[in-house]
Amino acid sequence: MLSNIKINRISQSNIQNVDFDNIPFGKVFSDHMFIADYRDGKWCDPRIVPYEPIAMSPAISALHYGQSIFEGMKAYRNPEGKPLLFRPEANHKRMNKSAERLCMPNITKDFFIGGLLELLKVDEQWIPKKDGYSLYIRPFMFAIDEYVGIRPSESYRFIIFTCPVGSYYTAPLNVKVSDNYVRAFPRGTGYAKVAGNYAAGMLPLKFARQEGFDQLVWLDGKEMKYVEESGTMNLFFQIGDTLVTPIAEGTILEGITRDSILKLAKDLGVKVEVRKLSIEEVFEAYNKGKLKDAFGTGTAATIAPIQTITYKGFRMELPPVESRSVSLKLHHALDAIRTGKSEDPHGWMIKLNDKIS
Ligand code: COI
Repeated sequence: MLSNIKINRISQSNIQNVDFDNIPFGKVFSDHMFIADYRDGKWCDPRIVPYEPIAMSPAISALHYGQSIFEGMKAYRNPEGKPLLFRPEANHKRMNKSAERLCMPNITKDFFIGGLLELLKVDEQWIPKKDGYSLYIRPFMFAIDEYVGIRPSESYRFIIFTCPVGSYYTAPLNVKVSDNYVRAFPRGTGYAKVAGNYAAGMLPLKFARQEGFDQLVWLDGKEMKYVEESGTMNLFFQIGDTLVTPIAEGTILEGITRDSILKLAKDLGVKVEVRKLSIEEVFEAYNKGKLKDAFGTGTAATIAPIQTITYKGFRMELPPVESRSVSLKLHHALDAIRTGKSEDPHGWMIKLNDKIS
């Protein structure tokens, strides 16, 4: 895999400047990054270089027209301290789905996973050892043609950098159901991990934060009736003893944590429904005392409990987090697999020296 990779190591690691007991999310960067370029119809020049600013033309089309996609994944350590990577093949697949939607080239597995494994070998010591911490991995690809006309770029850059991280959210969330802005429309880009989806959510979130909320719940763009996502996360509701998550039919990002929770719920015998779920139904369940839990899932957030949901001025207060036995059990099962403390029945975990077919 990637036999022609060049490695230029940093002269002095920055790791001694990091307080691993207190890491803010996304602000501390490991020593190196992996870079590759796409030109003349193929990926080339794989290299590992020190993490540092990159010089770019101000005319690159990613900056002007948003041909830019990304992924998020995490690496952990098993009880013996050996690094483990969680479901990188699923991220690779999704990155290529996003690439297709924005008319960008697919990235090959040897560059995506092979490059990542080489990077992790160089920066292995950056994978946190403490429980509750992990190494967040950010692969991204953007258009680098120096051209101001609008057309798909012919050249691209692919970069992976990593950040040791703790929790993304430190407390249960108070969310507001957005009743004016929407995140995605049918046949749009909602299912893809494209940079512009996140930019479009920033103004509505700013308004919600001014009202004291932590995050928004997005409704479908057509009828503003069905629940879709919350902030950057997929959503789950426990109604009675059934876990319900909105069906992903083009407007919802198909989260890898979402998929993992669905599979683990099945393993644990939890009843699951993947379907359309209206905000009215959530209210009805609440009024009947059947809404036992609501939480978001995502790579950064893992499982983020929701404490209150407000829609058009009505507020639902959910049961205390300690009482939510189903999501606590699922969270525990997921953590145990990711940190190598339990069997990995789905074959999700990859070791640094595993051969990737
Ligand atoms: C992720 O969960 O990886 C995301 O893309 C969310 C981002 C806010 C860190």
